[in-house]
Amino acid sequence: MPAEAIRCTSGHAAPVAAADCLGKLPGRVLDKHELRDLVDALAERPDLWRQHVRFSDDERHYASLHRDEHVDVWVLCWTPRNDTGWHDHDTSSGAVRVVSGALEECNPRIGGAHVQTVVPENTSFCFGPDHIHRLVGAADTSVSIHAYSPPLWRLGQYTITEGGLMRRVSVSYADELRPRDTPT
Ligand SMILES: [Fe+2]
Repeated sequence: MPAEAIRCTSGHAAPVAAADCLGKLPGRVLDKHELRDLVDALAERPDLWRQHVRFSDDERHYASLHRDEHVDVWVLCWTPRNDTGWHDHDTSSGAVRVVSGALEECNPRIGGAHVQTVVPENTSFCFGPDHIHRLVGAADTSVSIHAYSPPLWRLGQYTITEGGLMRRVSVSYADELRPRDTPT
């Protein structure tokens, strides 16, 4: 497991969580641990996101739950055919909480086997702007809550050629992330 990916079990009381999730955010950039507290707290508030849950093999379904100048929050719905491809989050830290099903996270390893980690239901992880990963649904249907700070504007998408060359292209946060190469 990469050092920056910190998994935890079920959510716990925390300052951000105590701030009623989205209604009373502190009005500043949150660090990755605060983002994890936020997504863990939102997992306990399905009234805020369950109406957005639907699934498609053809395009990953997602909905914005919140966006301000400091934080954006999304609910994402996954099938095993929904694959983000390799990407980073530019200058944003982030956190992911799986609220049903499971996700598989992969981290690229140059010169060796990529790191593969199953993130099961009711667990979360967080990361800084240095994190590169790809996510794919690891159950028939899965739902996750994601938070980023500062809010996503651009992301880096990567291709890795058969010869091992890695290239980055900048994409908009409004574009659905998809693999730009074949899985390796
Ligand atoms: Fe990501």
